[in-house]
Amino acid sequence: MEKPIGVFDSGVGGLTVAREIMRQLPNENLVYFGDTARVPYGSKSPNTVLRFSRQIVNFLQTKDVKAIVVACNTASALALPTIQKEIDIPIIGVIEAGAKTACEVTETKHIGVIGTEGTIKSRIYTKCLMELDSEITVVGKACPLFVPLVEEGLVEDRITDDIASRYLGELKDYDIDTLILGCTHYPLIRNTIARIMGEEVKLVNPAYETTKSLKTLLAERGILSKEKNREPIYEYYVSDAVERFISFADDVLPCNVNEENVQSIDIEEY
Ligand code: DGL
Repeated sequence: MEKPIGVFDSGVGGLTVAREIMRQLPNENLVYFGDTARVPYGSKSPNTVLRFSRQIVNFLQTKDVKAIVVACNTASALALPTIQKEIDIPIIGVIEAGAKTACEVTETKHIGVIGTEGTIKSRIYTKCLMELDSEITVVGKACPLFVPLVEEGLVEDRITDDIASRYLGELKDYDIDTLILGCTHYPLIRNTIARIMGEEVKLVNPAYETTKSLKTLLAERGILSKEKNREPIYEYYVSDAVERFISFADDVLPCNVNEENVQSIDIEEY
């Protein structure tokens, strides 16, 4: 059997990245881990996010993954730079690819980033963007209520509109032409964000570009799946609340997620 790609997130949000991998790399097997017992990571300290991420990477390695995608922006910001130096298999996050796309699409060089408190405080997108082009100016805004709103299913709802207007209203003063959706959950309320920002602001979803980078990386290492025209194997693991995960995953993913392919594990053991 072809070795799978490991994908992890603090919870269900990373399924937006898994969905993109399924779409662009339909021959690859996937093992997804969602840390549903310990979500959110966005409000936790860098040390805690690093400890959690290390445990997940250890777990994924027991599944013999050939590469790992850190589908969580917060973990990509706070843990990936350290973990990258600790393991032998390729591991990528979502930040670099998102920053690269934003750099390519901006015309005015004024870019906005929205994300969790942890991601925005780390200023990682700003650092990445300025390394790519020192003339770029970046404004970041933490939008902590977006994650629970999405998880409660309030995707098209007046409450979400009101909160988004308040968060994004501040960004409108900065005259940005590009906005990075720097959190896994935000692509799910893309329509609301687009409506509020107006059509002159281009929205960047790092999941798309991350998958393109993943494909290039696997090809360079000679580990792209060679098995064509077969059903890929998708396995899901969570640290809590299997049923809630299944119901969310069923809405987000193009394939069937059920009790047979989702298992709960004790991540503290890894
Ligand atoms: N997955 C996280 C991220 O992309 C959002 C949820 C959380 O705070 O854990 O930053």
